[in-house]
Amino acid sequence: MLVGGEWREARAEASLPVHNPATGEVIAAVADADADDAADVLEAAAAAFPRWSATPPRRRAALLHDVFLALHERAEEFAQLITLEMGKPLAESRAEVGYAADFLRWYSEEAVRISGSYRTAPDGSARHLTLRQPVGPCLLVTPWNFPLAMITRKVAPALAAGCTVILKPAEETPLSALHFAHVMAEAGLPAGVVNVVNTSRPGPLVEAILRDRRIRKLSFTGSTEVGRRLLELAAPGVLRTSMELGGNAPFIVFRDADIDAAVEGAVAAKLRNGGQSCVAANRFIVDDAVAPRFIEGLAERLRAQIVGPGADPRSTLGPLINGGQRDRAVGLVDDAVSHGADPVVHYGTAGPGDAFLKPVLLDRVPPAAQIARQEIFGPVATVYRFSTEQEGLALANATESGLVGYVYTQDLNRALRAIEAMECGMVGVNRGYVSDASAPFGGTKQSGLGREGGEIGIQEYLETKYASIDATGTRGFG
Ligand code: SIN
Repeated sequence: MLVGGEWREARAEASLPVHNPATGEVIAAVADADADDAADVLEAAAAAFPRWSATPPRRRAALLHDVFLALHERAEEFAQLITLEMGKPLAESRAEVGYAADFLRWYSEEAVRISGSYRTAPDGSARHLTLRQPVGPCLLVTPWNFPLAMITRKVAPALAAGCTVILKPAEETPLSALHFAHVMAEAGLPAGVVNVVNTSRPGPLVEAILRDRRIRKLSFTGSTEVGRRLLELAAPGVLRTSMELGGNAPFIVFRDADIDAAVEGAVAAKLRNGGQSCVAANRFIVDDAVAPRFIEGLAERLRAQIVGPGADPRSTLGPLINGGQRDRAVGLVDDAVSHGADPVVHYGTAGPGDAFLKPVLLDRVPPAAQIARQEIFGPVATVYRFSTEQEGLALANATESGLVGYVYTQDLNRALRAIEAMECGMVGVNRGYVSDASAPFGGTKQSGLGREGGEIGIQEYLETKYASIDATGTRGFG
C-alpha cells in the first residue's frame, strides 16, 4: 500500500496474490487491506489536500507532464507489466501505455485553464463572481481491463483540479497501479496526494471510506451492478459521483456501408482487449442485404486470430482475465446456440480451467438469448439482422445500456440521423474506435454518470462557488 508517501503492509499483514492469466501462476503478492486500513488512507488524502489544492496550477501541470514523459520513457516496462498481470498481447499493452500517457499530457494542459466568471446582476445591484474549486479528497475505483489507462483517466484530471486521491485498483491487476505510483513519487509528487490501497475484499474497505465525511467524491469504472451499489453507499454523504459502467454496444452495418471497412472496424471494436472492454461491440446489427458479405469477411478474420499468451509476439488474442470470465462467455454462447443462434465460427469444445477462448461468431441470435442483453466481455460476435433503417436503429436502442454505438454507412444524411437517434453517449461513424484522451468518454441510461477525458473531464473534480458582491455603491455614474 502507499499511504501518505510510505510503502507499507496492511494493518492485518495479509497479502493478496497476483496471477498471470496466461499460466495461472502467482507472480507477486501485494498488501491486502481491509476496513481497518481505511482511516489511514483517508487521513493521508485529507492531510495532503490543503497544500495540494493551493499548489499553483502551473506546478501541478508540470508534474503531470513529467509523469507523461516518464511513462513514455518507461513504456516497455509498463507494457510488460500489463501483459503479465492482465494477459493482453504486448502490442495492445504498448498501445495502452500510450493511451494512458495521453491523459497525463491532456490534463497537464487543462490544469492551467480552470476558469470562472464575473457578471453584473441584471438589476445592477451586485456583481456575481463564480469560481471553480477542487471537490476534495476522492476515491477512485478502477477495473482490471485497462490496468493503467483507467487509472490515469481519473488520477490526471483529479490532480490537475487540485484534488488528492485514494486509488483502489482492481484486485486482479494491482501491479501497474503500484508501479505508476512509484513513477509519480519519483517525479516529485508530494506525499499523500496519491494513496494506493489494494484489497481482496473491496466491499468493506470501500464502504468504510465512503462512510467517512473526509471523502468528497467517488469515481468508479466497472459493472452497472456494482455501480448501483456504490451509488447507494455514496448517498448518505451526498458524494459527487462519476460512474463509467457497462455497455451493450450496437454496431450497425447499413446496406450502403463500405463492407471491407465495416469488417475492419468490427475486428477492432470486437477484439481489442479480447472483447473485455465496455466499448466492445456487443451486437452486430446488419442489414439483410449485406449480411452474407459482412459475416463472411468477419468470420475469415476471426478464424485467422492466433490465440496464445500475450507475451508471445505471434499472439493476436491473449487469455481472458481468468477461467471464470472464460466460463461465463462459454455459458452465454451455449445459451444462444440452444435458443437457435447459428454458430458460424465456434471454438468447438473449450475445456474448463483455462482462460483462453477462441473467437466465436453467432448469426441470427434470437432476442430471447441472454447474450442479447448482457455485456459479453469476450471474443464473441453476435449478429442480428434488419431490413429497414428504423428497424436497425430500434434494435440498437433496445437495451438499458447507452455507452457507445458504431454506425457504418456512406450516406451522410443517414449517418446524421443515426447519430441523433442513437441512445448513447458516444458514436463511432465508419470507425470501430472512439477512445481518445481529448474527447468526453461516458454513457447515458444505465451506462453511467459524468464524462472522462476532454475539457469536461476535469469538471468532474471541481465544484462551482458563486459570490454575490454588493455593488450598489457603483451606481450613480451617467
Ligand atoms: C473500458 O473498457 O472501460 C474503457 C475502454 C476505453 O477507454 O477505450
